[in-house]
Amino acid sequence: MEIILSKRLETIASFIPKGVKFADIGSDHALIPCAICIKDPTSSAIAGEVKEGPLTSAQQTVDAHQLNHQIDVRLGDGLDVIDHDVTHLIIAGMGGSLIASILERGKEQIASVKQIIVQPNVGSNHVRKWFDTNNFILTDEVMVEEKGHIYEVLVATKDRSNKHTMDAKEIFFGPVFLQNKSHVFMKKWQRELGHLQQIIQQMKQSKNPDPTQLNQFRQHVLWIEEELNHES
Ligand SMILES: C[S@@+](CC[C@H](N)C(=O)[O-])C[C@H]1O[C@@H](n2cnc3c(N)ncnc32)[C@H](O)[C@@H]1O
Repeated sequence: MEIILSKRLETIASFIPKGVKFADIGSDHALIPCAICIKDPTSSAIAGEVKEGPLTSAQQTVDAHQLNHQIDVRLGDGLDVIDHDVTHLIIAGMGGSLIASILERGKEQIASVKQIIVQPNVGSNHVRKWFDTNNFILTDEVMVEEKGHIYEVLVATKDRSNKHTMDAKEIFFGPVFLQNKSHVFMKKWQRELGHLQQIIQQMKQSKNPDPTQLNQFRQHVLWIEEELNHES
């Protein structure tokens, strides 16, 4: 029985090549590993979960689709659950700082990982920063609009050259996004600009606004206005 994924999950799944062993960390429903393994019987996966409830739900999806020979559902924190032959990693549907902390805590366990696909709900800059300081290069960035939400999917490939490739502005927006500013990109940053201007207004009215944070937000407003006013 085929699984029809949402646009967000389908975009994430599309980056897993055929025949690889991958891990989906924070798998919850295990829809991504199940959909991929149904389409490609040569692939195999680890579905990792830190909480019992989502773990049970992941196991139920795997059982319902009779995929126990391809997918191992494991209870554990972050990358503790992965094997040393996993080549592709998915971490989706969490905040960017949590994703970055999972990667940082587990970085000794990912020697075999060639590609990491992440979908941070917020704070994708934290993950880009982690990629930039840990020898991963962003090769793809996709924005997906679904049910009023705009999601960012980031794909990073291992690069042994040990170079920093992103400046502060690229870490903020995404280097691939900046190269080709789509309609969804403009929409997202138009929205963010409104939020930031509101926050700055509120900070200015408060008794003790943090000057460093205020300056940072002002810098972000300038960057966003710059990008919205210049076509790529
Ligand atoms: C909102 S769900 C996202 C599920 C799915 N990845 C998606 O994108 O639809 C986030 C899941 O990550 C799990 N999670 C959070 N921190 C984790 C960690 N350190 N290790 C493993 N799973 C974690 C949560 O228990 C939850 O089930």
